[in-house]
Amino acid sequence: MLYEKPDALKPPRTDILMMTPWFAPIVWNGTYNIDVLTAQFQQRDLRIGLTVFAIKKYTVFVQTFIETAEKYFMVGHKVTYYVFTDRVSDIPIMELAEGRRLMVLRAPTYQRWQEVSMRRMEILRDYSRQRFTDEVDYLVCVDVDMRFNDEVGVEILSDRFGTLHPGMYGVPRKIYTYERNPQSEAFIPLDEGDFYYAGGYFGGNVEEVYKLTSFCHNAMMADKAKNIEAIWHDESYLNKYFLYHKPTKILSPEYLWDDSFGIPKFLKRRRFVTVPKKHNEIRN
Ligand code: UDP
Ligand code: GAL
Ligand code: GAL
Ligand code: MN
Repeated sequence: MLYEKPDALKPPRTDILMMTPWFAPIVWNGTYNIDVLTAQFQQRDLRIGLTVFAIKKYTVFVQTFIETAEKYFMVGHKVTYYVFTDRVSDIPIMELAEGRRLMVLRAPTYQRWQEVSMRRMEILRDYSRQRFTDEVDYLVCVDVDMRFNDEVGVEILSDRFGTLHPGMYGVPRKIYTYERNPQSEAFIPLDEGDFYYAGGYFGGNVEEVYKLTSFCHNAMMADKAKNIEAIWHDESYLNKYFLYHKPTKILSPEYLWDDSFGIPKFLKRRRFVTVPKKHNEIRN
């Protein structure tokens, strides 16, 4: 394979942070060679699981999600879509490319949308102990109210990864919307915290996703017993976990963008973007 050699004295980009102080790469367009990475991953013949929840009215998002994933997500790799739903018959039958399959799995529903969102941790924990271990090597766990808009490949894979929230990559620590109630299991003091991670995009190997989802679920249950719910639900507990179990790779906001934030100059690609929704209509 022929490619331009890296230059030890010339960083490919200087407008963004490419590496955390704990030496986890932050994945931005223009900082990696996808051919080199793909060759490495293909040698290992990896299987990737992409999980989403489509509970109640959120089944409307599934078709676009899968269609755009077929076009952009891990093209050429072995992919299993795991769609958790309470409305199995609403999930459309779709033709998938070779090496890809769709598993529709029944999941419980909850009255409050916050609870639906938070309970994802419990279900992912349980499946990480059961079938995920046999079926895939890496898990990518995302929101369903999204569409792929550009390539997402093996550059995202790592033992434990999180994603920079599109609304908070450049703000001072005190602005991060961490949970600030010291009674909560998600509490983060004002003088701590690295990044603000999005609840809608994390992953890693199955064992690490098990540990992460177990922690979050247990913390949510401990809070529930105290009648506490963290400000941004599962996202708040995820941020607590990543503070003390730092990600081994971090995805830039290219991987979870929301066009309502505009398109800043450093953002060369918008790979996965939110599908606008009427919150009240869809959540009730
Ligand atoms: N969700 C769902 N049904 C609901 C509410 C939420 O399936 O009634 C799932 C869905 O996967 C969704 C995720 O929980 O993407 C997070 O909720 P939402 O996207 O509404 O949160 P936001 O991204 O707006 O913070
Ligand atoms: C909003 C987003 C919420 C939550 C919040 C955190 O932009 O819609 O889901 O992540 O930021 O402050
Ligand atoms: C995340 C949330 C996603 C998306 C994103 C951007 O926290 O889980 O659903 O809304 O924020 O606003
Ligand atoms: Mn969402």
